[in-house]
Amino acid sequence: MVDEWVAWHRRYDRRGDLLRRLDVVQARIREALDAARPGPIRVVSLCAGDGRDLLGVLAHHPRARDVRARLVELSKELAARGRRRARSLGLSRVEFVTEDAGLTDALDGAVPADLVLVCGIFGNIADADVRSTVRHLPELCAPGATVIWTRGRFPPDLTTSIRRWFRASGFAERSFTSVTGTTMSIGSARLVGRPRRYRSGVRLFTFLPAPERPSNRARARLRRGTARGAERRGERARAVGVGGIFLRAREPRRLARWYRDRLGVAVEGQVADLTWLSPRAGHRVGHTVWATLPDDDRDWGPRGATAMVNYRVRDLESLLYRLRRDGVNVSPTIEWSAAGKFGWADDPEGNRLELWEPPRNYRPPERPMPME
Ligand SMILES: C[S@@+](CC[C@H](N)C(=O)[O-])C[C@H]1O[C@@H](n2cnc3c(N)ncnc32)[C@H](O)[C@@H]1O
Repeated sequence: MVDEWVAWHRRYDRRGDLLRRLDVVQARIREALDAARPGPIRVVSLCAGDGRDLLGVLAHHPRARDVRARLVELSKELAARGRRRARSLGLSRVEFVTEDAGLTDALDGAVPADLVLVCGIFGNIADADVRSTVRHLPELCAPGATVIWTRGRFPPDLTTSIRRWFRASGFAERSFTSVTGTTMSIGSARLVGRPRRYRSGVRLFTFLPAPERPSNRARARLRRGTARGAERRGERARAVGVGGIFLRAREPRRLARWYRDRLGVAVEGQVADLTWLSPRAGHRVGHTVWATLPDDDRDWGPRGATAMVNYRVRDLESLLYRLRRDGVNVSPTIEWSAAGKFGWADDPEGNRLELWEPPRNYRPPERPMPME
């Protein structure tokens, strides 16, 4: 059991995809620490491995000394590695315990926590255990706590249900990201409902034997031909319209006012919504958003684009798969939100493209502001 997970951690050294997942997890941890109120920040990590996600952030974060963390990890070797790293960083309030993280007893005295990490678990346990873990999470959380979780989106994709279970348990989604060209995904959610009373002795989950784990079953299936499927679907995937035109701005509202006053663009706030009308019936069939956006609103790419065209696409993931295969620089992540899925890439001249697949039930906003 232990050896297996030590071997799994070696994939961090060899495989780009796990490192890209780590980048996203660490970005979410950083966001949670940046937003934390002054004073102690309590963190728990279930099945923490060697704790590189949290420790890698604490190594450079100004709030590192405020963090009191308990990382629960069954493997003695991985926990020992984590302890050594924490010690070398001078993090005396970060402890590793080698206990069963599936039982809440391992968290006695460490919760309620402001940040709960549930990474690398949901692909190794039964669906019913995923659901029950999510339902119990408010018992581990302080008010407003953030939970960061991961799960592969291999078929059948459980992430839609997981996100729904989070909502049903009193969480609001902060982000849901998938790593392009892989099945990996990372969710983060904030507890907006009331925390519930913590109890010891609650069984959250049990790791399944290796052959029965959803992640292992999926790996075998994926080896058998998913690439071919993506290839086929990729041929149908394409841009079907311009979804938006975005200008990057230091002062977005001010810049939008400039366009309104000087050019008469029908801007409301920072946004103008340009409607596509069907030539025959005259009804709305789509829209293009024009907007000024702040620096941190979008992935503006390695060259720091100052403007970006958003293309509305069919089958974003297959399209990104094909672009990557053809050597196009594609952003490592896909962001999911209520407005749909978003990905990014660069054209051969280095212009940034945003690719957007609206949700199936997508309806343009109610109030169009037509331009002649
Ligand atoms: C997929 S790895 C994830 C490690 C880490 N969270 C990450 O994302 O890099 C799963 C980890 O869970 C540990 N583990 C398995 N069963 C456990 C249990 N019942 N309690 C605590 N740790 C467990 C394994 O030793 C392994 O390090």
